[in-house]
Amino acid sequence: MRIAIDGPAGAGKSTIARRVAAVLGYVYVDTGAMYRALTAEVLRRSIEPEDAVAVSSLAKSLQIMLRHDNETGQQGVLIDHRDVTEEIREPVVNQNVSMVASHEGVRTAIVAQQKSMAAQGNVVMDGRDIGTTVIPDAEVKVFLKASVRERARRRSLDLIRRGYKVNLDELEDEIRERDFFDSTRRVSPLRKADDAVEIDTTHVSVDEVVDMVLLLCQGREATH
Ligand code: DC
Repeated sequence: MRIAIDGPAGAGKSTIARRVAAVLGYVYVDTGAMYRALTAEVLRRSIEPEDAVAVSSLAKSLQIMLRHDNETGQQGVLIDHRDVTEEIREPVVNQNVSMVASHEGVRTAIVAQQKSMAAQGNVVMDGRDIGTTVIPDAEVKVFLKASVRERARRRSLDLIRRGYKVNLDELEDEIRERDFFDSTRRVSPLRKADDAVEIDTTHVSVDEVVDMVLLLCQGREATH
């Protein structure tokens, strides 16, 4: 089965996707990490994130690899064999990733890689356009959402854990901006697929959301 989990920043996609994959023994693919890795490399090479030609050509030439760490359950990310797992979560990457991910050439290169990962089957993929573009015929499609305040709160806990100082209002503004950019871009915007099941995670625990997704998977299995 292929499970597509989409939604805006901080809706809980990676937490839920990772847990569902662990329960089912499936591979978890964090597609946002691929756009983040490209962004980290764009910044390292001092390429302008707005420069569609330069960024797209880098996307075509780079080898981005996701490596699963069985001990921590975390997804490691390598660019041309350099480990960038920590670097891609830095605030400067957050601020530039939406621009980098909006270029048509970038999406063509990265979506092609993601489609071939999905073709192996037994995957849980999370992102913005998995149910609409990467795996439009996924067996299970989920769209997670949550209030902006709650999403900012979750992101702040994440950042505090990694030693950053945070301002919740600023974080909220940044999330709003990123949502707007991701959902209004021309190519592959953030959008709920018509046949995706929407789950609002604002007041629901992780365990409950995981159970809901597993139920959807069971339902899907029962009909096959
Ligand atoms: O899920 P995330 O916050 O790690 O994603 C980072 C950015 O990557 C997000 O702002 C939009 C982009 N993205 C995308 O355009 N398509 C995806 N499938 C996944 C992420």
